[in-house]
Amino acid sequence: MISVAIDGPSGAGKSSISKTVAKKLGFIHVDTGALYRALAYTFIKNGINLGDEISIENLLKTTNVKIKHINGVQSVFVNDENITGSIRTEEVSMGASNISKMPIIRSFLLGLQRQIAAENNVIMDGRDIGTVVLPNADVKIFLTASPQKRAERRYKELLEKNENIVYNDIIEDIIKRDYQDEHREIAPLKPAEDSVLVDTSDLNFDESVQKITEVIEAKI
Ligand code: DC
Repeated sequence: MISVAIDGPSGAGKSSISKTVAKKLGFIHVDTGALYRALAYTFIKNGINLGDEISIENLLKTTNVKIKHINGVQSVFVNDENITGSIRTEEVSMGASNISKMPIIRSFLLGLQRQIAAENNVIMDGRDIGTVVLPNADVKIFLTASPQKRAERRYKELLEKNENIVYNDIIEDIIKRDYQDEHREIAPLKPAEDSVLVDTSDLNFDESVQKITEVIEAKI
């Protein structure tokens, strides 16, 4: 099986770009952030304080997370309930970043991610795919963009959804989440030594897709 690892900070376009490239190449796309989000959402829904590791450990004993691809689109299930539509809020984003520093959370999700890559040709995106989850991936890409560009894109996206949003709140969240993801002790966000760096600050979506496709095709 061929695996492509794409890591990078939030809002760099990893998931939308990976999804399109995966479709072109006939691979499945796995957005691993959705797994961390699924757990954060489940804990919040159950009224668990995200700093309370004992309650989290207990709830994990009865929590089953699965990914399914329906017409090439990833859905995430917790105990057989499809929660894909509930995990994209700012509260869940920050919650996912908060719990992702816990070893128990990372080890809970590790086997699932490796199993999917063992069974499929994948483009898997996240923060630690090239460094920890798939250290032997055939292609490793670190996809980034400036915090300002990422905040602008997110701002436009939310405006289109008519959400009442303040630009400064978005950039603050992005900077805070980058800091948390880069500075945690376990599996921090950083480029794998053998990764190719792609900066999309000055690339539009189609140019980014083109660039990533070229990097992958040059390696496989
Ligand atoms: O990619 P995303 O924004 O959906 O990810 C949400 C959070 O989940 C992110 O801030 C950190 C965590 N995460 C992680 O620690 N490791 C991954 N492979 C993917 C996401």
